[in-house]
Amino acid sequence: MKNFKRYLVTAALPYANGPLHIGHLAGVYIPADIYVRYLRLKKQDVLYICGSDEHGVPITLRARKEGTTPQQVVDQYHSIIEKSFQEFGISFDIYSRTSKPVHHQTASEFFKTIHEKNGFIEKTSEQYYDSEANQFLADRYIIGTCPRCANENAYGDQCEKCGTSLSPTELINPRSAISGTAPILKETSHWYLPLDEWEPFLKKWILEEHKEWKPNVYGQCKSWLDAGLLPRAVSRDLDWGVPVPLANAGSKVLYVWFDAPIGYISATKELTPDWEKYWKSEDTRLIHFIGKDNIVFHCIVFPAMLKAEGSYILPDNVPANEFLNLENEKISTSRNWAVWLHEYLADFPQRQDVLRYTLTSIAPETSDNDFTWKNFQEKNNNELVAMLGNFINRVVVLTNKYYNGNTPELGIPDAKDLEVINTLEQFKTNVEKLIEEFHFRDAQREAMNIARLGNKYLAETEPWRIFKENPEKVATILNICIQITANLSIILEPFLPFTVEKIRKILNIGTFEWNAIGSHTLVPTGHKIDAAPELLFSKIEDAEIEKQIEKLQLSKMSNAPIVPQFPPVKENIAYTDFEKLDIRIGTILEAQKVPKADKLLQFLVDSGVDKRTIVSGLALHYTPEQMVGKKVTFIANLEPRKIKGIESHGMILTAESPDGKLALLAPESEIQNGSLVK
Ligand code: MF3
Ligand code: ZN
Repeated sequence: MKNFKRYLVTAALPYANGPLHIGHLAGVYIPADIYVRYLRLKKQDVLYICGSDEHGVPITLRARKEGTTPQQVVDQYHSIIEKSFQEFGISFDIYSRTSKPVHHQTASEFFKTIHEKNGFIEKTSEQYYDSEANQFLADRYIIGTCPRCANENAYGDQCEKCGTSLSPTELINPRSAISGTAPILKETSHWYLPLDEWEPFLKKWILEEHKEWKPNVYGQCKSWLDAGLLPRAVSRDLDWGVPVPLANAGSKVLYVWFDAPIGYISATKELTPDWEKYWKSEDTRLIHFIGKDNIVFHCIVFPAMLKAEGSYILPDNVPANEFLNLENEKISTSRNWAVWLHEYLADFPQRQDVLRYTLTSIAPETSDNDFTWKNFQEKNNNELVAMLGNFINRVVVLTNKYYNGNTPELGIPDAKDLEVINTLEQFKTNVEKLIEEFHFRDAQREAMNIARLGNKYLAETEPWRIFKENPEKVATILNICIQITANLSIILEPFLPFTVEKIRKILNIGTFEWNAIGSHTLVPTGHKIDAAPELLFSKIEDAEIEKQIEKLQLSKMSNAPIVPQFPPVKENIAYTDFEKLDIRIGTILEAQKVPKADKLLQFLVDSGVDKRTIVSGLALHYTPEQMVGKKVTFIANLEPRKIKGIESHGMILTAESPDGKLALLAPESEIQNGSLVK
């Protein structure tokens, strides 16, 4: 790896339209916080940047629903979010917001620079327009009947009843969410970032030069790049956002995903006059911490924007996490299936580190993972209380009892003592390596192994049993245990900052830097420790956990399950109409993805009478490899159709349930290709 002089660490800007829950912390903000705290202990030059993402349609919709203004919505949530971050010790150097003038100005300049370099293309298309309210309608502002389940209140981007994603023109009887009238299609023009032009660069930069990115990140980028990139609109017809800074732009604003990542730059600008040193020098290592739904924006779109602008560095790594579920179900704001940070602290005051610890131990680093209250209780009771807390408590109690709280002398360590002393250094190397590779779960486990080691050492040496006959030995043991505790106060800092502060108080010591880990002379002989320290952790009883589980059950009951609906049965047809269909059995010989189309697969099918090409929208459900060799049922006499330039000779039959599940129709026993279906 290159030798970097400084670090710039960003965490995804959360939307200011709702409070934070455990999924946010586990996926993005805790991992980034661990990383940054570690770098600071290593005395590295590092900035940790975040802020609220305050633009976008959901915010304007929420304001309309609540009868307030978008500014009021973001003001309210910005302060709730900021407070939660503070309470959980997320140690940003700045927490800014995208409604600030410095951001508007930075984003406008960014756009203007690309525009002046001819980095955009302008394109006209037809979009729904509310002629009573005199404005274009974002997808979410169009309501109509779902073509799938007949729900009359489906949105232009999605039907929330059956979960299907839609485009506004698919809605039956569309109406405007603003005036209730039927919208008309009207031409509008927008600026597009030609991602296709950046494709060769991105392919080389990611696929060749950043093979070290996490497999989930690299894989997602690769499939986007393999499918081919298309120009992306970077403006919208909306009255909330950063206005497009051109004379002829009318009331258009920058698309929220164009302005939000520029928020990282504006926040840095706000923080320090030295901001260019961080953003414009190849000596800086830029790292974006995000969730998996943000990968394409941070790995493909934003880098293309940065290149098009021309004066900024690109991220060196984008360690995105997968999602955290709660009690085996997807976390959902609208269904209130979440553990909200402000509610957690009301129920578990002062226990930020218990949550931080649990969330790190189950961080969805390689695949989605699950938070359960039972596991939370076990982590607290078995690890924090029984291992870490218990070890430190015994050390403190014994030192006070035998030595009046004065650190006893090391004396002459025997072989076992030396072995313990000498292993300390290894933890530093191991944890360091794991953190630098973004393996925070394993890093935390390894850091806790120091407490494990201490407990084992105490259990094997039993100082309380030998004090009378061998006080010198006990002095050695307790001196070593105090040194172990001091080591814990360093190595646990990135993970458990609140606990570490308490440990320092207990030992009556200050802070050390990372490189002090491994030393067995951190606390000098005679140093007085706290006489009556508070306990670091306390047991969480079953009743407290049951209360939380009940709370979740309640929110489940108040959100009656969504029953997917089947569309009504179509009009009767004559038997002769059915007979016109030529339906047959065939076998898939070859299968491949269709470039620049994420839903389509192209097949070569053995129909019994010929070999033919059929294009089918199965790519979201099956990989090409899964399809090869499968028997399928297909319509053989459908008029040939050109799909994405490929002529398709037929249609593969599938069954689809209202919740979007899909199954192929295949004969139930072996039968020859070409057999007729009647
Ligand atoms: N607000 C977005 C989300 O929560 C993240 C924006 S990240 C930024 O998914 F880079 F655009 F700022
Ligand atoms: Zn529907």
